[in-house]
Order: sequence, then structure tokens, then C-alpha cells
Amino acid sequence: ASILVLNGPNLNLLGTRQPEVYGSVTLAMVEQECKAHGATLGFDIECLQSNHEGALIDAIHAAKGVHQGIILNAGAYTHTSIALMDALISVEIPAVEVHLSNIHARETCRHTSYIAKAALGQICGFGAKGYLLALDALAAHLDEAAP
Ligand code: DQA
Repeated sequence: ASILVLNGPNLNLLGTRQPEVYGSVTLAMVEQECKAHGATLGFDIECLQSNHEGALIDAIHAAKGVHQGIILNAGAYTHTSIALMDALISVEIPAVEVHLSNIHARETCRHTSYIAKAALGQICGFGAKGYLLALDALAAHLDEAAP
């Protein structure tokens, strides 16, 4: 199966951005680890990052018929974007929501997730490892869904 690993705004700054909150691993390293771990699960991994809400929506639309699963860290759009939620619901591709930090233990503005309403589930608080846990979750889900 082919999986899209999609990262939203400011995640291009991983490694240097508030390392006490998000860790010191760069996005390039996260993507590399996703590809390596994905390979062990039989996944082809495509990675994409954008700071633009519309570009993220376009990427979700373009995933239809191409990718069988989506891992999404929508950054701050998580807490604001009904449009991203609608896009995920529209394409009907199983998605796992990821956050490096535990959004529920942070400011109240981060406690709501529109993405959660459209995702299989949410993994947050485990740093960069969360992306790999999300791949495991997708693998289990797709296995279960297979005839
Ligand atoms: C984040 C959490 C969001 O609240 C924040 O806006 C981010 C990163 C995370 O991975 O912990 O940009 O999605």
C-alpha cells in the first residue's frame, strides 16, 4: 500500500522550533524514519509538507486513488480547519492524526481537533515516534479491512 505522510504549517522548522516542546529531530529525519519503518510494513511512503491550508487540501484530494492511507500532522490548522476535516471526510481515505506534543496537556486552544472528527484516531505526546506508531496503526487497520 501507498501512504501519504502529510505535515502542515511550521513543521518544516522541526529540530530548531521550540525543541523543548517538539524535540530536536528534523522533518527530514522524521520522513526518513517513516520511509524506513514503512518499508518494514510493506508501505510505500510519500512525504509532503506545506505551510498553506489550500495546498494541504489539494494534497488530500490528490491522494484519492493513489494512497490507501494518510498520516496527518496538520499543525495549528488542527484546531481551526473545518476545510481540512471536510477534505479528509470527502476522500474517504483512512487517516491517522499525529502530534509530537500532547495537545491535551497544553493550552486550551490546542485541545480541540477538527482532524480527529475525520480520522481513525489520534496519536499525540510521543514526539517523532508518533509517526511510526501511526504507521503501525494504519497497518493494523488496513490488515483488518482487507478481505
Ligand atoms: C503540533 C501541535 C499543534 O498545536 C501546533 O500548532 C503544531 C504542532 C504537534 O505536532 O505537537 O504546530 O501539531
